Amino acid sequence: MSDAAPATVSALLRGARTQVAHEDADLLLAHVLERPRGWLFAHGDDPVPAAAAAAFGQLLARRLQGEPLAYITGHRGFWRFDLAVSPATLIPRPETELLVELSLARMPQSGAHAVADLGTGSGAIALALACERPDVQVIATDVSDAALAVARGNARMLGLSKVDFRQGDWFEPLRGERLALIASNPPYIALGDAHLEQGDLRFEPAGALSSGADGLDAIRAIAGQAPRHLLAGGWLLVEHGWEQGAAVRALLAGAGLLEVATHQDLEARDRVTLGRAAN
Ligand SMILES: C[S@@+](CC[C@H](N)C(=O)[O-])C[C@H]1O[C@@H](n2cnc3c(N)ncnc32)[C@H](O)[C@@H]1O
Repeated sequence: MSDAAPATVSALLRGARTQVAHEDADLLLAHVLERPRGWLFAHGDDPVPAAAAAAFGQLLARRLQGEPLAYITGHRGFWRFDLAVSPATLIPRPETELLVELSLARMPQSGAHAVADLGTGSGAIALALACERPDVQVIATDVSDAALAVARGNARMLGLSKVDFRQGDWFEPLRGERLALIASNPPYIALGDAHLEQGDLRFEPAGALSSGADGLDAIRAIAGQAPRHLLAGGWLLVEHGWEQGAAVRALLAGAGLLEVATHQDLEARDRVTLGRAAN
């Protein structure tokens, strides 16, 4: 047994902040102590129990190996929620909130028609739409059962039990159905792209990231089938890479969609392309 005085909150943070980003050090210690981040700053002199300090050291080591903070803590903020994530799901990105905003602006006026989120992952897009428009039926699909288990858990946690989660390949779980709006953030990185070997992407599921030699296989499949699943005047919105705007516009226009346009994210990069079924 050691007689050494327990480390304080601020001493642990000081040490960790020399190794990882300040925010990461703070969030990891807050996670271990089960406190909000702000609590740390008012309790800098508090002693940290040895077991908690050891647990913090282990999480810090994982972060130093490059593991994403969200997988270590098990959650990530998106829209108005704190969503559970796991290595079976993509970590929701702030850029995807643009897809949610553009979708909300095009949701059906009445709740008579359903909308869908294809490739829902943690459920981020579907749950944001369902939260803002409780009158509309939201269907969320994914090919990954493990991702759907996380998404269903998030829906339960948020009390959004009306969201209808379905497993299958893109439109397969929607056979014979037509929707007022289809939103998707599909995989869109080219196989072999060097980014897949960098940062958080190394830890995220390959099936959530890459899609064929040019990264466009999923968007090709979604755009090609969308007209058979959209109501007259219904919208398709897809997120994509910042260099794919022209290619995605061509795919949507080639599928017969009208009013095809690309919207840019806060960094003025092409991010979401949308198109509309004929009336
Ligand atoms: C880029 S992630 C997006 C996850 C989530 N929508 C988000 O924005 O955080 C793409 C998702 O598409 C799913 N996916 C990949 N191929 C699919 C397919 N053929 N059919 C349905 N979903 C698929 C993956 O499992 C993954 O959850």
